[in-house]
Order: sequence, then C-alpha cells, then structure tokens
Amino acid sequence: MNPIIKAVDVQYCTLQCPDLDIQEQFLIHFGMHTVEKKEDILIMRGEGPKPFIEICKKGERKFLGAAFLAASMEDLEKISKTDPFSEIETLTTPGGGFISKGTDPDGINVEVVFGIDDRSDFKEINPFPNNEGTNSNRVNELKRYQKGQYPRILRFAHYGINVTDVAASLDWYNKYLGIIPSDKLWIGEPNNPETPLNGIFARLDKGKVPADHHSIFFLNAHMISQGKSGLNHVSFEMLSIDDVFSGHEILQKTKEEFDYELEWGVGRHYQGSQVFDYWRNPFKQTHEHQTDGDVLDNSVPHNDLDLTKGEGGGLPEDGPGASQWGPSINFATFGDERGL
Ligand SMILES: [Fe+2]
Repeated sequence: MNPIIKAVDVQYCTLQCPDLDIQEQFLIHFGMHTVEKKEDILIMRGEGPKPFIEICKKGERKFLGAAFLAASMEDLEKISKTDPFSEIETLTTPGGGFISKGTDPDGINVEVVFGIDDRSDFKEINPFPNNEGTNSNRVNELKRYQKGQYPRILRFAHYGINVTDVAASLDWYNKYLGIIPSDKLWIGEPNNPETPLNGIFARLDKGKVPADHHSIFFLNAHMISQGKSGLNHVSFEMLSIDDVFSGHEILQKTKEEFDYELEWGVGRHYQGSQVFDYWRNPFKQTHEHQTDGDVLDNSVPHNDLDLTKGEGGGLPEDGPGASQWGPSINFATFGDERGL
C-alpha cells in the first residue's frame, strides 16, 4: 500500500523541561544559539539555514515530539485529512509556515510541517577540506579552530523513541510518512516469529535522492524502559568531526558544574557509521552530536541482523552494542526511564 505521504526531512524536535534557563545553558554548551526565550518557551537554532532546531517548553520532563517536513502543501493537506492528524494550523514560530499535528500508536506526538522559511541571517559555513590518505584537498590553508569555541551544529538530524511495539511503529510511520527500514535488530533468528525485535533504524524514502541511514530509530521499550514509551534521544548533525570532539571537550569540562552526564562516546557506530557522542542534560534527556553518517537511496533493502550472532557488528567478544571504535553501549543506562 502506498504511504499517505513521503516526508522529505526532519525539521525540529520539541522537549519539555522543568527549567528553561538550565536547558538554555546546556544547549549553548552543546552548540546552539537562542532565537527566542519567553517564560514558557525556549527556541534554539544551529548554524544551518533552519530558523530553529529545538523547542523547549516549560513543564515536567517530557518528549513533545518531532516535526517531519512535507514535500508540498498538497501533501500537508493530504495528511491533515487522516484520522491521527489535525486540521492544518498556521505556525507562529520563527519562519512561519503550516503544521498538522498527530499522535503515533504510543501517543507520541508527530508533527508534519511545510512552508517554514529559512532564517534571513543565514550565512553558509563549510567545514575545512581534509587532507586524508593521498588526497590533498587543503593546500596553502591552515586548519585552525579557536580553542574553546562551541561546537557547530548543522541541523536536527534524527531521533530515537522507545516504543511498546517496534514493528507496529514502523508500520505506522511507513503508512503515514513513507518511512522505510534500514536495519532491523533481532535478539535471535530473524525468521523465527518468537524472536524479539530489539529495534529498527528507519529512513526517509526520497527515491533516488540519498537519505540519512536513519531519521528515526524505534527501540523496544520492554527491553530498556520497563515498557514505558518516550524519548530515547534527539540527534544533531555537526559541521565536522572536529565539532564532535570539541563539543566533547567542552561538555567534559563543564559537566560537574552544570550536572551534565556523558551517556556514550566518542565512537563510530556500526548502524549508520556516524562518529557519535551522547550527552544527557540535567533533566537526563539525551542529546547526540554526530557526523559523517551513511546515506542510502530507496533501492537498498533493509538488513535483518541477529545481535546474538554479532551481526550488529564487532567481534564476538565485544557483545552486542559495540562501536567500530570507541566504547560499547551501556545497556544498563542507554534509553532508560530517566530520560523518557
Ligand atoms: Fe542517534
């Protein structure tokens, strides 16, 4: 069955936090800039063209969802006529535009937006070319970063949610937004109907246009958060690998004074291949820095990976959740109830 629409990007995420001053400070250390701050709402941007990439509303810790970008106003109208989604509303956030609001099978908010203008003060910045292997891409130009500068974030890139039925979530996001799987993680033989699904990395279907290996990641809430659904992590693409490491240095330096927690990193993933670094804000909501991920068009079929056989990647002695380099995942904490 054809999906209702095929989303073409993710636009921003929305969190709820008890203290917006604390979240603002965390996001500044993390690499964002304040666009707007009122008593009950904080709006932050990166260095890319989008007018904002994270919204934080004031209240008890909660994930308020993420926004997918529709390809056209017609697509936004199409999805607004389906049961889980609302009538189209006009956005009053920076850049304007239009929105239809929905909820997924776990009651997690999903927004679809169209017509948000890029910020008018956007100036394109590019990473330094790299001299790697036998490639001399940077000649007569010195690579220099200002010591202590905040890491530069390009865009909101993907998010992970803990869900009560991983397969049902993929079906739902496929039906409404055209999301397709990249990797399915099984705890045992994939063809056995009894085998539990640990998670699915899933991407946008943009036809021949390459899409990030995953824009959304579903994890089995029964395995990591006592069956409770909610946020696993929000993820931001950095301008370069240097920004992942310089961000790590700043967050390490400030973590005790500001109550930040390193969740996992720095390392290179198997699924998606990104260089990653995960940090929790003082409310324990996990934010990821990452760059240099895989991109796939829609011709690439998904992989069924049996984690018990090490098919997720790594040596058998590394166990599931290994990185190509860097630390392995901490299954006791990653995606636990503290940050939902
Ligand atoms: Fe991620």
